[in-house]
Amino acid sequence: MREQSASLFEDLVNLKLAKCKSVVLAAGHDAQSASNRIVYLPRNLLVHEVLAMNARSTTERYSSVSIGLHWFTLILLAAVYACMELREQYPKGSDIREALKSWHYMLGLSVFVLACVRLVFRKIGPAPRIHSLSPLQTALAKTVHLSLYVLMIAMPLLGWLALSADGKVIPFFGLELPPLVSPSKDLLEVFEDTHELIGTIGYFLIGAHALAALYHHYVKRDDTLRKMLP
Ligand code: HEM
Ligand code: HEM
Repeated sequence: MREQSASLFEDLVNLKLAKCKSVVLAAGHDAQSASNRIVYLPRNLLVHEVLAMNARSTTERYSSVSIGLHWFTLILLAAVYACMELREQYPKGSDIREALKSWHYMLGLSVFVLACVRLVFRKIGPAPRIHSLSPLQTALAKTVHLSLYVLMIAMPLLGWLALSADGKVIPFFGLELPPLVSPSKDLLEVFEDTHELIGTIGYFLIGAHALAALYHHYVKRDDTLRKMLP
């Protein structure tokens, strides 16, 4: 009975609960009809447990929260990079250049916050299995995912450290964050250089990651990209 319930849980998630037109909570029936999308749940299943399932990743696909955070982070990162690239178009000290820099800092810090939330959601549920890859390819995919997390966490921290070492204000949507270190020219150089280096590596890392996803979808025609689509 317990095993049946556990497998029903998994089947239910695979049916993409959020998209089910109707879910019938019928006490005492361990049966499910995939064709008409009516699902009968076991006797002691509470509605909030059903909803919580949708926030967890399963072994087949990412949770809707992880998927939302993934694509929102992509948009944020594009804006973070764009602000820095665009600033070059405006004279030093101009209002627009300063505004672009402030947005770079604030959106960059938002990436940090979202990355921490994502890590929590990864802990709640397992990352989906990586299918049909050799052990070497699996290790490569995991290394790239790990490096992307390092990018999302180390870059904002290095930026925060750089502004602190420069004795500048660290803005965050109307707030002022505290400096992490005392002003120091030597430290500023180290933090800025490292921030710039990882920022450049980030372009290639994100590019390679996106290309790999497209390769899996269009050439290998597997479910890698679909696992990350709403
Ligand atoms: C994921 C987040 C971030 C990414 C990908 C990123 C990326 C970059 C890039 C590509 C540059 C240009 C480097 C150059 O060619 O000069 C840059 C510059 C800079 N970033 Fe970030 N950054 C991020 C977050 C932050 C945060 C949160 C802060 C501060 C709170 C920050 C502070 C700075 C500073 C001070 C500069 C130098 C600006 C200047 O030249 O005046 N960054 N960043
Ligand atoms: C067009 C751009 C992108 C595409 C097409 C894309 C696609 C994907 C796909 C299909 C997966 C699932 C891979 C699997 O489980 O085997 C994935 C996972 C992942 N992606 Fe992306 N991605 C993009 C941009 C980004 C960006 C900008 C970041 C952050 C810097 C990022 C970070 C991650 C991470 C960390 C994972 C591992 C799962 C997780 O913990 O969320 N991706 N991506």
